[in-house]
Amino acid sequence: DPEESLVARAPVVTFLGHVDHGKTSLLDRLIGIDVAGGESGGITQHIRAYRIENNGRPMAFVDTPGHEAFTEMRARGAGVTDIVVLVVAADDGVMPQTEEAISHAKAAGVPIIVALNKIDLPGVDPLRAMTDLNTNGLQPSEWGGDTEIVKTSATTGEGLDELLETILTVAELNEYVANPDRAAIGTCLESQQDADRGVVTKVLVQNGTLKVGDIVVCGDAYGRVKAMLDPLSPRTRLEEAGPSVPVNLTGLDIAPSAGARLYVLDDIAEAREIAETR
Ligand code: GTP
Ligand code: NA
Ligand code: MG
Repeated sequence: DPEESLVARAPVVTFLGHVDHGKTSLLDRLIGIDVAGGESGGITQHIRAYRIENNGRPMAFVDTPGHEAFTEMRARGAGVTDIVVLVVAADDGVMPQTEEAISHAKAAGVPIIVALNKIDLPGVDPLRAMTDLNTNGLQPSEWGGDTEIVKTSATTGEGLDELLETILTVAELNEYVANPDRAAIGTCLESQQDADRGVVTKVLVQNGTLKVGDIVVCGDAYGRVKAMLDPLSPRTRLEEAGPSVPVNLTGLDIAPSAGARLYVLDDIAEAREIAETR
């Protein structure tokens, strides 16, 4: 009975929102790194995925770009996620990519938590953004609706604990399960050709366990997993990656498109044949 093998997996939490509303800054602060500071032009150009542990509870966080050019990546982020954190800058309110993010999240059928960010800015009126959100179908819980809105500042750290608590509460209301004993299934978040390492593919494992040496097909790419690196500490090599674990893997022959499904096969010739007929 396959159901017997189902065990709890970490929730996948994706940060979506309008450009510059503070997705990367909030995530940096939550996990204690500084990605935003090193970004060229302060613009997120890549989908990022990290696995962290909070009081022994693992979670996967996905950061997406807010820039208009990256609609596809946002859709993909929403597609692989369990929970969306919609980041809305309090001074700006609901903007075009906020609305787009809301529709991606609704299409994915996942709960939305709002981080009403930049609450530290002088003169911001949270009521305005809350009214906008209400108009867009996200009725604040303090107005009797079911959308949790947490006022945050990535600058001062205000509301960050509450945001994390709210994410954990929503996660606990749902049961996220997977079977780590089966062959891996995952999704390519992005992929690129690296001068030193060859094709590097960011994959979120969604079910099963992916192992170094596994033969995989991913879209029109195939290969044997050569190495898997932890995106949060790229020197850490992983021998295997279970459900809800993001990895940067090498070993594919070409860079698959983002959104391509990854799965494991027994036979490399068969993998090549499948990949080449796509
Ligand atoms: P894209 O990835 O380009 O869509 O942007 P983002 O949503 O990841 O925003 P990012 O974290 O790059 O922040 C944009 C700017 O807002 C930066 O200059 C941050 O320092 C600033 N910022 C982020 N959060 C806050 C906040 O809570 N308060 C204030 N005052 N500034 C913030
Ligand atoms: Na930015
Ligand atoms: Mg960003």
